[in-house]
Amino acid sequence: MSRRIPLSRAAQLVGVKRRALQKQIQDGHIPSFDGTVEVSDLLRVYPDVQMHDNTQLERMERIMERSASKVSRSENALPDAHVLAARVNALAQDLVDAKTEANWSTELLEQIKQRIETIADDDRKAWQGFRQWLLGSLNRSQSTNDPSRQLLAQAQFLRTMTANVRVFGSEQAFPVEGATSILEAGLEAGVPLEFGCNDGTCGLCRARVTSGEVTTLKPHEYALSEAEKSQGYCLMCSCTPVTDLVIEAKVAGGPEDIPVQRILSKVQRIDPLSTDVTLLQLRTPRTRRLRFFAGQSVKLVINEDVIGEFPIASCPCDERHLEFHIPSHTDSPFSRYLKNQLKRRDEILIEGPVGQFVLDEASMRPLIMIAADTGFAPLKSITEHAMQLEHTEEIHFFWVINQIETHYLENLCRAWVDAFDGFSSQCMTGKTAFSDKNAYQREQEAFMKTILAQHDNIENYDIYIAGDAHFIKIAQALFVNVGFPKKQIFSGILP
Ligand code: FES
Repeated sequence: MSRRIPLSRAAQLVGVKRRALQKQIQDGHIPSFDGTVEVSDLLRVYPDVQMHDNTQLERMERIMERSASKVSRSENALPDAHVLAARVNALAQDLVDAKTEANWSTELLEQIKQRIETIADDDRKAWQGFRQWLLGSLNRSQSTNDPSRQLLAQAQFLRTMTANVRVFGSEQAFPVEGATSILEAGLEAGVPLEFGCNDGTCGLCRARVTSGEVTTLKPHEYALSEAEKSQGYCLMCSCTPVTDLVIEAKVAGGPEDIPVQRILSKVQRIDPLSTDVTLLQLRTPRTRRLRFFAGQSVKLVINEDVIGEFPIASCPCDERHLEFHIPSHTDSPFSRYLKNQLKRRDEILIEGPVGQFVLDEASMRPLIMIAADTGFAPLKSITEHAMQLEHTEEIHFFWVINQIETHYLENLCRAWVDAFDGFSSQCMTGKTAFSDKNAYQREQEAFMKTILAQHDNIENYDIYIAGDAHFIKIAQALFVNVGFPKKQIFSGILP
């Protein structure tokens, strides 16, 4: 039985983020091979892992309970019968192999023992030590308290409930729980996989399975050619893994890889967030999800006279429900229409995405987020995406308001602080009118200096700033003046 575990599953078992484990590998503390780590190496670095207090296992139990009581999403909570049977069968095969190996080892050891007994008396002392070592090793390997055996057993259990998918040639990997398609699971994990229709019609989500086995979840209209089938291609929107997989799939590397889309959406929610900011939530059709990177904006077209461009405030992991924070202080035709005429279920055309203000996923530095007014929206999207990706252990969020009246989602910032270790947030309120340019500049600079003063070695961070052009210019200049590397500043000017 292999003692190697895929990286994602190993991170689940020892209760750390996948990124943290990648860092251990990068720093040379844990050797890795083909996206897997050896159980003994894992235990060497994480000796205090609690074998009987594993949150992931509890989560699996909750999934099973939910499924049994049919409370919600039960149809997707467990893998389907065919997949479960195949996984149990693979485990049984592993068990047979392990037993055969164990029997052979025991037999071999018995033979060695008998040979030792026949050794001449005058050599006995020398061999005695060898014999004791051998028997000791045998006893240790049979002990059920051996932590590596327990960890391996838990890994095998997780293997029956979730499959791990690794994208060949990248660091990206994600778990697939229950009867979820590879595409759904990948998108939920924040991996920007290529897709189109999500219902098996367009063929854009084709991927080649280079290792492992998949099964079809639902029939699809798109026909793979015989050549594609023989090379192991599948449609990610219609298949689920039977075993752990390695796939060759198209993944968007940056905003330039995502085409502009035009999608007719429906208004799902219009709620005031404060006296001067309104939440607009749009829902796209099930088969037309918007592909975008966190931090990007789209154009919203109600009619030819009522058009606005806004950053998306929600995470790309939920591409069907798009959230926008619309300010009313700009008094645009869009904000007037939103206030006076727009209602639930009205249609709005989405065009986009646009913009280069996105998370640098290659960087492993901790993050400082600085939002000005509704610059909170794109930074909310990037923050949620970073959390989804387990991008970093540390995020410090600063929210400066000047043109709007309140920090309209301060409760969300508090919830982030409560939910995530290493997350801090601070709200700051400007008192100077935007029109008084010099005073406004002095005040914003004072805010930036407050942020600087809170971080030793600030050059070890990436800074993301979102707000109006004037605010961004002031903030950028201040950080550059104190010697902060320009390439670690990412700026998103509000449209
Ligand atoms: Fe169109 Fe899968 S997304 S076939």
